[in-house]
Amino acid sequence: MTDFEQLRAVDLFAGWGGFSLAAEQAGLRVVLAANPWSLPVEAHQLNHPETAHECQDLRQMDWSSLPEYDVLLASPACQGHSSAGRAARKFSIQANKRHDALRATAWAVVDCAEVTRPRALVVENVPEFRDWDLYDLWTEALRRLGYGLVELVLTASDFGAPQRRRRLFVVGILGADAPSLELTVRDERPIGPCIDWDEGDWRPVSRASSAVQRRIADAQANHGPRCLSQHVSGHRGISLDEPIRTVTTQDGWVVVDGDRYRPLTVRETARAMGFPEEYIWPESAGRRDTIRGLGNAVCPPVARELIAAVAGELAPSAQREVVDVNTGRRVSLPMPADEAQAVVEHLSAVDPNGDYVARLAA
Ligand SMILES: C[S@@+](CC[C@H](N)C(=O)[O-])C[C@H]1O[C@@H](n2cnc3c(N)ncnc32)[C@H](O)[C@@H]1O
Repeated sequence: MTDFEQLRAVDLFAGWGGFSLAAEQAGLRVVLAANPWSLPVEAHQLNHPETAHECQDLRQMDWSSLPEYDVLLASPACQGHSSAGRAARKFSIQANKRHDALRATAWAVVDCAEVTRPRALVVENVPEFRDWDLYDLWTEALRRLGYGLVELVLTASDFGAPQRRRRLFVVGILGADAPSLELTVRDERPIGPCIDWDEGDWRPVSRASSAVQRRIADAQANHGPRCLSQHVSGHRGISLDEPIRTVTTQDGWVVVDGDRYRPLTVRETARAMGFPEEYIWPESAGRRDTIRGLGNAVCPPVARELIAAVAGELAPSAQREVVDVNTGRRVSLPMPADEAQAVVEHLSAVDPNGDYVARLAA
């Protein structure tokens, strides 16, 4: 990699593309995204057309075929770890086996790291990932490969998403001690502005089941006529003035407006996850698939903050300098790699003879 080249990322378990989007927003180029099913690959492709796509089960991946890259992003399937998954396993041997198989997909991260040795890796999962019987072995395997690891449980609403969603991020830097990453926590954003009151499929509350009517009445008693409720027994509703709680693949959130209610729209769900308005999904994707893709996604705002911090570790901004080759004068650029690159490109455009070169200080 030359000094000011953009960092490159590979996104395994790429799904609907939340992690890839975060990486792009942090200034990285996502060179490859992999997922075994065609619909997520199509959704990813629509939004990340510059990225190469592999429609591939990662348990069968030939890691030696990956392009050159710097940062491995991976959010292995979480169903085998989450509390919802644990409950399902109690009742079904089949769910048990399926979840065991899904949990095992986390080893793809170790396989990939062993063969390709990226400079850094960022792995996302539910916090219960750490309760996995093999978690200590999994982290030890990454350490043996030379990664200094740090584990962070982050809440998306601390980083700009209107959702209190807690996720574990395991960050590894090759050949370094456990990184200490500086993250900027922001004020929480409420879910209220994400709601389109004139959109969606409203139904009269009076036609809902008695359980739903009771929950809606409870939510309104707690938070007023306009609020959110969730199809979960005993749910007390939430105010529009606070972030929504975890958006899952279950499509269980409803918007309440006086005597009518409806599910969150797909666009509202995307906003709750922190996806920008221009993010789209295939026309062929039904509501169920799209909500599943979004509910499974990594919240881009929190991952963006983290990936930017990781990128800062890989290329400390304090060492960035532009050198004027005519005078030998050095100007330091205390900014992330992508911004420094933009400055260099600007200087080159101002000076088409190419008298400015950029490089890292020795
Ligand atoms: C947590 S979701 C990924 C979310 C995605 N990174 C995002 O931000 O939108 C996990 C993904 O793992 C994928 N997956 C499940 N089993 C897999 C396997 N054997 N190989 C590759 N991907 C798998 C699922 O299709 C799902 O998209």
